[in-house]
Amino acid sequence: MSGIKTKRESQKILITGTAGFIGYHLASALLERGDIVVGVDNFTPYYDVRMKEARHEILKKNKSFHFYNISIANYKDLEKVIKKEKPEIIVHLAAQAGVRFSLKNPWAYADANFLGTLNIFEVARQFGIKRVLYASSSSVYGDNKKMPFSEDDRTDNPISVYAATKKGNEMLAYSYHSLYGIETAGMRFFTVYGRYGRPDLALFKFTKNIIAGKPIDVYNRGKMKRTFTHISDIVSGILALIEKKKLKYELYNLGGDESTTLLDFIKIIELRLGKKATMNMLPMQAGDVPAAVADTSKACCDLNYSSRVSIEDGVADFVDWFIENKKWLLRLKDPK
Ligand SMILES: NC(=O)c1ccc[n+]([C@@H]2O[C@H](COP(=O)([O-])OP(=O)(O)OC[C@H]3O[C@@H](n4cnc5c(N)ncnc54)[C@H](O)[C@@H]3O)[C@@H](O)[C@H]2O)c1
Repeated sequence: MSGIKTKRESQKILITGTAGFIGYHLASALLERGDIVVGVDNFTPYYDVRMKEARHEILKKNKSFHFYNISIANYKDLEKVIKKEKPEIIVHLAAQAGVRFSLKNPWAYADANFLGTLNIFEVARQFGIKRVLYASSSSVYGDNKKMPFSEDDRTDNPISVYAATKKGNEMLAYSYHSLYGIETAGMRFFTVYGRYGRPDLALFKFTKNIIAGKPIDVYNRGKMKRTFTHISDIVSGILALIEKKKLKYELYNLGGDESTTLLDFIKIIELRLGKKATMNMLPMQAGDVPAAVADTSKACCDLNYSSRVSIEDGVADFVDWFIENKKWLLRLKDPK
């Protein structure tokens, strides 16, 4: 895991969603460099909770990890944690993730993403926490035709409830910044992957099914284009935002340097596994966008951000990890 190695005092940082994929990796990196991490998560069953428990088991071995099993949608519970722990910064990553599930259960998104994020900003205001970094998403660009997506592009056409809640988070951040001067940055992540990755996302599902000899569902007949971003690059971007001296109201694309079609992505997985996939070609799904390609020049300029892991190396690392752990990973339930 990469991190910023400078002489510095340790900080106390509250991370929401530490049992989640990105929260787990960020918490690990901060603990490794000597910070105190206050973790919050309520282990929602959106995907097999055994994956969340596996991540949490690793984090809880560290004495500097203080954990609270609460929902961020409950303001009183959140308030108790903040009163007790007094964190300096909040990195808000907890959410109901997933574009497709937001068509089935939109209410889950209103609770975790909208009310939860409002609670985070409100508690920051009440307790004088100066900086809130929060997860937005490339999905705020909707079906924007201009590629690559840049922070200056319009984002008022979200084509899923998930995307609408993420856009709503950015607007809440603006309100809290302009009203109370809270320093905020919305991090628009582009398809993140890596070890302990989400079982509902393509790389996990494809690797699992190919190993198990099951067919894989390939939407838009594999013509979808994505910037895939290795988790270590995302963690480096968040660490740079934690360290940044001055911050007002900002939005940053955090993505990889390379973009690829789904079909080419599958070829890279097949190559590492040494096994061909059986593909179930399907049309585009409602809510999905045909392409999401990142322009990261703003993050590069302001945060010295650059993506260091190529898709080939990142996929190879994931596939090797999956094979080492296949006994328990193959037993995880398929996501909804
Ligand atoms: N992984 C990606 O490719 C990607 C891309 C764009 C944006 N994002 C955003 O980044 C953030 C982290 O994503 P992730 O991939 O780690 O997802 P994840 O689902 O693995 O992690 C989110 C965590 O939040 C927790 N959570 C949900 N509702 C909660 C609540 N009410 N109270 C407390 N905890 C709650 C879940 O239990 C889960 O552990 C999310 O906000 C997501 O929308 C992720």
